Amino acid sequence: THGWRGVVEEYRELLDIPEGVEAVTLREGGTPLVHSEWLSGLTGGTVHLKVEGDNPTGSFKDRGMTAAMSVAKHEGAEACVCASTGNTSASMAAYAAKAGMKPLVLVPQGKISAGKMAQAIVHGAQIIMVRGNFDHCLRMARELSWHYPVALVNSVNPVRLEGQKTAAFEIVDFLGDAPDVHLLPVGNAGNISAYWLGYTQYRDLGRATRTPVMRGFQAEGAAPLVTGEPFPDPETKATAIRIGNPASWKLAEAARDESGGRFAAVSDAQILDAQRQLAARDGVFVEPASAAGIAGLLQDLARGESYAGLTVVVTVTGHGLKDTATALEGFGPVADTVVDPDVDEAARAAGLG
Ligand code: F0G
Repeated sequence: THGWRGVVEEYRELLDIPEGVEAVTLREGGTPLVHSEWLSGLTGGTVHLKVEGDNPTGSFKDRGMTAAMSVAKHEGAEACVCASTGNTSASMAAYAAKAGMKPLVLVPQGKISAGKMAQAIVHGAQIIMVRGNFDHCLRMARELSWHYPVALVNSVNPVRLEGQKTAAFEIVDFLGDAPDVHLLPVGNAGNISAYWLGYTQYRDLGRATRTPVMRGFQAEGAAPLVTGEPFPDPETKATAIRIGNPASWKLAEAARDESGGRFAAVSDAQILDAQRQLAARDGVFVEPASAAGIAGLLQDLARGESYAGLTVVVTVTGHGLKDTATALEGFGPVADTVVDPDVDEAARAAGLG
């Protein structure tokens, strides 16, 4: 939107952050709510996509990061740390550059997409690869922040959720009320908790007449909220949500219970199929983890759940360009038709006339 100031300035009076905090912003938020003809047709409802890949570093993390980094800077932090499956580190590195802070990133070795690694590197992060998974990295980041002068900006920092809840505000501001159902991917469970904060705050303020039913979807190899038990060795091609012991477990369960919602698991094959269909049918290219909510909606329909007549929002959390390697796995050779610079040859190869 023209003149959009970023989520801290746009929603400052609704955020629980100290007074007088100067925003460290890349004008995040204000992302489009895109009507899906495909999914509206399939469901008989009205389905919108909240396209969070349109944020400055390509994921919803920027909403929480502007808030957390603004407060960290206000409090005098000179360095910041996070554990990440890729997007949080990309976002933190960018906002640290903007804030003039030193970013330190802990990531599971070999499990971060090339695009996300590139973002952290180019923004100047110090990157530490851990022989372990995200859950190990998060424990280390927390302990580092206890013993050393580095500000922790994972979503265990409550200011992150303050920033991320603005996505719910934007949805209600756009639709005029809360949707009936909200679907989204769940990993460390910060985002579903943040949406619930936002929706309940708007209802309590009278800006919405209701709150949506929250449905969270995890990859079947990393589905602790579905089974109720941590996964010691989480595994999924959707590396962004390859998390076995989510930090916001309790908050996410509260969002589920208070909203009358549920968690469910989807397979990697369902996730990648949903990713491809969304790109081909709606023109929206999201990263694999981001398609978990779409996969969940398709699975619900296949199992006989009705969305007919409902207003539905599905958050697609990150941009498809974050992980092109995984996206292309299901396709054949990319340039399988090579011709000389000759129009007739190109036309023949393309099957025209
Ligand atoms: N989708 C994407 C693209 C993500 O990067 C994440 C989390 C999620 C969904 C899940 O959100 O953790 O709030 O439940 N990525 C974190 C990271 C863990 O380090 O970038 P959540």
